[in-house]
Amino acid sequence: MRLHITPGNPLRGEASLPGDKSISHRAALFAALAEGESRFDHFLISGVTRAMLEALSALGIPWKLHGEHLSIIGRGLHNLKPPSRAIDCGNSGTTMRLLAGALAGAGVPAVLDGSQGLRMRPMRRIVAPLQEMGVAIQDDEGRAPLKLGVSQIPLRAIDHTLPVASAQVKSCLLLAALAAEGTTTLREPGPSRDHTERMLRSMGVNVTSDQAFTTGDVDLQVPKTEYITRLTSPSPVALAPLEMYLPADFSSAAFLIVAALISPGSEIVLRGVGLNPTRTGLLEVLVEMGADIQVYNQDERGGEPVGDLRICNSQLVGTQICGDRVVRMIDEFPAFAAAAAYAEGESEVSQAEELRHKESDRISALCAGLRALGISARERRDGFTLSGEHAPRGGIVDAGGDHRLGMAFAIAGLAAREPVTIEGAQVIAESFPAFTRTLTQLGARVVQSQ
Ligand code: S3P
Repeated sequence: MRLHITPGNPLRGEASLPGDKSISHRAALFAALAEGESRFDHFLISGVTRAMLEALSALGIPWKLHGEHLSIIGRGLHNLKPPSRAIDCGNSGTTMRLLAGALAGAGVPAVLDGSQGLRMRPMRRIVAPLQEMGVAIQDDEGRAPLKLGVSQIPLRAIDHTLPVASAQVKSCLLLAALAAEGTTTLREPGPSRDHTERMLRSMGVNVTSDQAFTTGDVDLQVPKTEYITRLTSPSPVALAPLEMYLPADFSSAAFLIVAALISPGSEIVLRGVGLNPTRTGLLEVLVEMGADIQVYNQDERGGEPVGDLRICNSQLVGTQICGDRVVRMIDEFPAFAAAAAYAEGESEVSQAEELRHKESDRISALCAGLRALGISARERRDGFTLSGEHAPRGGIVDAGGDHRLGMAFAIAGLAAREPVTIEGAQVIAESFPAFTRTLTQLGARVVQSQ
């Protein structure tokens, strides 16, 4: 499927956004491990969350979806049924890594597999610590498919340092830790998203989050912060069911925020957007770049901060991103790049090598796609440099099997000098199925073709 963008229209009005992808994954899986019925509203129904729901069916968990309302009947961590064939996690790293942790904790044998793209992503980062916990799990040269055998429960609690901050790895290990004897400690070099901790706490689990300062690199005398999560396994494991209205996904909102900022004459309102501080690095960066964004009606929804946003077209200036911010906007670099393409001066991203391990190599593929639209982008080992212009040329570009790249290129086209065509745009439905409709409702000229 192709998207054709005719630039030049302002975006105006109010848009509704899909439920948060990370929270939807967790909601479905954690509810399956709970005892009793959980109910969720504003659940994200998309390619990747369907992979999670189908995996739950394969594990014998009944669920019902009415519109965006999901109900799931959990029977406890130790009552999952071994699946009769390999579970297909589609293109979803979150599905594979979180399921691996839950199955490890449940002691259920299974094979987890997925798309060619998912088979390229690193899995040793979960397999090695799971093995240390006593889980019978094997990868295929560090990649999927993952084969889980029958593990001896209880597992061993570990004290593990993650080389790269990752909520998927942390969540995987926390789920396994539910079935470990004692307290599991996980140490991260950055503040990865904490939805798992918030949700498990509301299900009655003892999870704590702390920060500790270490001397860091002794030669350079740079102090470092270590982000420490501890989970003490409840015995016996009994998770309370959940009821929650899910926040709108900040990572989907990011594309509309940038779209409004760069399209002359725009003013839009987005309501009930998830504003968990481990996710909102892009908001801070954009405001520092000169963005006119108001945050109001701040509230809490199901243990997660939310708020409304009013965004007006703004002239932005280039910026530099590194350090903890990289983690707190890890999914927002494609949207950021679209904003930086319209900012005055140069923008630079460093210490972001992890972007090479997302749905695509998001350093290489992002820079190549931006260049196809006439934007000057240079790849670096751990980031990229981008020279802003008031209006990029436009052209034809492929989403490269990555939903966020597809959306970023589309947004970058909204104020370009010539039309933009996105090839392979069907992938956008993995996280934001109503992307085209939403942009059109706000006034953009976007049409689909086969
Ligand atoms: C996610 C965590 C992030 C993010 C991904 C979703 C999650 O990955 O990139 O889109 O739901 O836990 P890492 O935490 O592995 O960086």
